[in-house]
Amino acid sequence: MRKIIAKMLIHKSGNNTFIYVIAMVSGLSGMLFGYDTGVISGAILFIKQEYTLLPFIQGLVISAVLIGAIIGAFIGGTLADRYGRRKMIIVAAIIFTGGAIGTSLTLNIIFLIIGRIIVGIAIGMASFIAPLYISEMSPPRIRGSLVSLNQLFITIGIVISYLVDYAFTPISGWRYMLGLAAIPSLILLIAMTFMPNSPRWLVNNRKMDKARSTLIEIRRTNNINNELNEIMTSLDKQKGGRKELFSPLIKPAMIVGISLAIFQQVTGINTVIYYAPTIFEFAGFQSAAAAIFATIIVGIVNVGFTLVAIFLLDRVGRRKLLLLGLAGMSGMLIMLGIVFFLPSLLNQLGTLAAIGLISYVAFFAIGLGPVFWLLISEIYPLKVRGLAMSIVTEANWGSNLIIALTFLTLIQLLGRAGTFWLYAVVGILALIFTYVYVPETKGRTLEEIEEHWRGGKHPRELGR
Ligand code: BGC
Repeated sequence: MRKIIAKMLIHKSGNNTFIYVIAMVSGLSGMLFGYDTGVISGAILFIKQEYTLLPFIQGLVISAVLIGAIIGAFIGGTLADRYGRRKMIIVAAIIFTGGAIGTSLTLNIIFLIIGRIIVGIAIGMASFIAPLYISEMSPPRIRGSLVSLNQLFITIGIVISYLVDYAFTPISGWRYMLGLAAIPSLILLIAMTFMPNSPRWLVNNRKMDKARSTLIEIRRTNNINNELNEIMTSLDKQKGGRKELFSPLIKPAMIVGISLAIFQQVTGINTVIYYAPTIFEFAGFQSAAAAIFATIIVGIVNVGFTLVAIFLLDRVGRRKLLLLGLAGMSGMLIMLGIVFFLPSLLNQLGTLAAIGLISYVAFFAIGLGPVFWLLISEIYPLKVRGLAMSIVTEANWGSNLIIALTFLTLIQLLGRAGTFWLYAVVGILALIFTYVYVPETKGRTLEEIEEHWRGGKHPRELGR
């Protein structure tokens, strides 16, 4: 069946079509990541009314997904290395579907929290296994755009969640808000069963015939021997296992991944994505409707600039976009701090804050958003790729949780201006770190990148 679909697609529209379809299908899990993390901001308003929740329990309902994601990231790595990337995306799709139906039918708040933790587990797994799978399938020339389709889907999922929340607000329909995720989950589940295994994972598991036929199928040529040999040669040089991760040769790649994971969250993106209405209200937007409308604009800008990144990543490279993005984000955070600090600007506060927030998100979307997930899918050796990505992804979700739990307290302690300035300081540190330490992977095969680490060279020398 799969072969027939591949042939039809290729026959209709050229060489890379099947690989684009593979990236879009697995990218659907990104849409669920975005939707399921975004939807709660609207749903919570009605859940807290229905169950008259204390603030602590409210916080738990909101952060349950993040707790689940940390667990999912933890277990996903070993599973993806052992059972394969494709199978684990299918498992995540089953959990997404069950979680959506379960949480929408829940009888009480405890089941709801448990259900949201379970959905979180799927998000945590899919958040890195989808980029990993796409990266291993892609030809180097277009790997950046293909892997970043996943980030594009995340941003689309966030916008859809805002729109669905908005649409069901008049009937307080939180059960619909949570339950609707079952539709994309089912599509992901069905479509993924037609997708092939990652050829690199197949080689690692000594399924050579399958690896060969999959490569022929996705590259659409019989001329795959070079690629296959390159994968095998590089595998022969690897030991694998947890120990290798922090061996002197691979350590620099772990430092790059873990640092970018933390920077991606600690520069505050999710405070804007999820607290945007609150921030717009601080900035003097009078009605809730205006604040929600501005939030939808934020979401759309996020999608639009991720598209720009997809266009540029394989042309300009990862580093330049990351540097530009971080510089812009830090600049906008400084400006937001000033806007909130100087009462004399109060008249223009709303407009300036809106411009600052929207530009900040645009800079995130062309840099740190897609580049983080892309780089971590490229820089680890095949034998430990799942494991390494899972550790880095845990750092990402862990920092996400910390920021979610501390944002409102930070505002109380440091004030609005102080909080934005604190994020700005982290942004500047991230900028310096990227300049000094982050490698350029554009156009390299995954095996060339591995070879670079084995040579014991500084990360920056890659791509110079
Ligand atoms: C981040 C998420 C964030 C999203 C926003 C992703 O790359 O990991 O935490 O919500 O981008 O677009």
